[in-house]
Amino acid sequence: MCGIVGFTGKHEAQDILLAGLARLEYRGYDSAGIAFFKDNGDHISMRKTAGKVKDLAAICDEENNSTCGIGHTRWATHGGVTNANAHPHRVGSVVLIHNGIIENYHELVSEYGLQKDLVSETDTEVAAALFNKMYNGDPIETIKKTVPLFVGSFAFCIMFKSHPGEIYAVRNVSPMVAAFTEKDGAFIASDLTAFVDYSKDYFIVPEYHILRMTQDRIELTDLEGKEVKPEYLKVDWDVSAAEKEGYDHFMIKEIHEQPNAIIRTIGGRIHGDLPDFKDDGVSDDFFEGVRDITIIACGTAMYAGMVGRTFIQNKFGIPVNVAIASEFRYERPVITDETMVIVISQSGETIDSLEALRLARKYTKKTLAIVNVKGSSIARESDAVLYTHAGPEIAVASTKAYSVQVAMMYLIGCKLGLVSGRTTEAEMKEFMADLKKVPDIIKSMLTIESKVDKLTSRMTNAEHAFYIGRELDYTLSMEGALKLKEISYIHAEAYAAGELKHGTIALIDEGVPVIAIASQSDVYSKVISNIREVKARGAYVILISKDAKITDESVCDVHLQIPKVRDELAVFASVVICQMIAYYTSIGKGLNPDQPRNLAKSVTVE
Ligand code: AGP
Repeated sequence: MCGIVGFTGKHEAQDILLAGLARLEYRGYDSAGIAFFKDNGDHISMRKTAGKVKDLAAICDEENNSTCGIGHTRWATHGGVTNANAHPHRVGSVVLIHNGIIENYHELVSEYGLQKDLVSETDTEVAAALFNKMYNGDPIETIKKTVPLFVGSFAFCIMFKSHPGEIYAVRNVSPMVAAFTEKDGAFIASDLTAFVDYSKDYFIVPEYHILRMTQDRIELTDLEGKEVKPEYLKVDWDVSAAEKEGYDHFMIKEIHEQPNAIIRTIGGRIHGDLPDFKDDGVSDDFFEGVRDITIIACGTAMYAGMVGRTFIQNKFGIPVNVAIASEFRYERPVITDETMVIVISQSGETIDSLEALRLARKYTKKTLAIVNVKGSSIARESDAVLYTHAGPEIAVASTKAYSVQVAMMYLIGCKLGLVSGRTTEAEMKEFMADLKKVPDIIKSMLTIESKVDKLTSRMTNAEHAFYIGRELDYTLSMEGALKLKEISYIHAEAYAAGELKHGTIALIDEGVPVIAIASQSDVYSKVISNIREVKARGAYVILISKDAKITDESVCDVHLQIPKVRDELAVFASVVICQMIAYYTSIGKGLNPDQPRNLAKSVTVE
């Protein structure tokens, strides 16, 4: 999704804007641009180009003594990847950047006669034209008049020609955070990785509030003009978390960060060897009277939810439904006031999940968010929130967020099992003791890199690949397939191992890679039979299991062993292998796993 950054203060803006945009590259984009008050006068200069931030930097002046500007990385929604469509957009006295979608931009063009002002294909330029048309010399009044005319999501940073040194911002749904320090000035961005080097204190720009930033101060007012005091938050991770720290890519760094991410996430939530969310402000009565659960999420977060579903349903007999957020919104929800709705989201800003949450809240007061970004929209709009403490996840391909989401689902499931009397404290104490072993389980798997690297040759040339398993391994295979697809562009499909022979096995041909996960004891022999079925038809089988050694060549071509841990915890080991297979296949194909084509880190458009 688009990245926004703005600065006005006591330093040259261009360097801060370009560095901020570089930090936002992980969000996914295809063009970039900046605008600044030239020589701090009332002329606004712009530089923008299709391509990367480094291409933008190449067309910027070495020196430009402007201390106020805005910058943007564009993930194309309306109009192709062209210089003209890149942001910022200028119409008359107004220059702005935007993250979101103005759904009624066509109507606005005809209703306000804006066509003559337009040179691009974007909804954003229409917004600039409308602000310009409404502009009466007073930016605040102009914004108050114009913003209610927009339908859709937006995060605008706006500069008005006659107001040098000032940046105005207003948002609806699309994320924007800001900060002010006496030493430096005022910062604004889509997420705080863009300016965390300058301030670890920040605030979420409230929706439909106007932020005015100058080098000396910031003013926040609602649309009625009432001044509002920003609610400051403090960054709970180190700046280095937003850097690669010697790893080749954020993704491999974050794979290695998983043990500590789990420690930070479950630590403080196990008291007396039992799950306990009191420190999160979520008491046991929030878990009382839950008859069924609906988990809502997208992508990897949804697949973590699928693991949670199988765990909770099989262990505690509580009915669990997993809904694709973008589908849930248009289905007839079968949730009641006895349904707990769990929304899982790393970013906390995925619009499909946020809108699904808003719908669910019409039916139940038991909405629980599992979110990694403090103060994000989904966190703020849920009845309760349990933050994962994975630290910022920069790579587009989610890894550590998945592991901590699964761990959180296990904790929540155990709490629900205890509160509903479906399990005993003794059983849960034993499970909590095992859950504490997960960081070491993952750590033991990180050495698999040397073996997985050898697999790359068989993967990089593949057009198709299958991930198969049963029970928890089937749910895990969905995440494995997604990882491979999104960073290596190989068509991969997850399949219930027992279902393959009902049609899809027709796709198995000589050399087709099949990653088979067989860690669940009660179905192990069944999965081995299913593997023989694909092996007999020429598949190249990579088997992930607890076996010490597999000598039978009719079962697999490569065997990757995971520790002999209890079945529920095996997913934490197997997923590391899936992450590594995807990562090394991607780099084996000469791709950049951190910035896969077409993808964005947080999907804030529908
Ligand atoms: C996962 O690797 C992808 N980046 C994507 O599927 C992601 O999990 C999905 O968009 C949900 O994002 P969220 O967790 O921030 O809501």
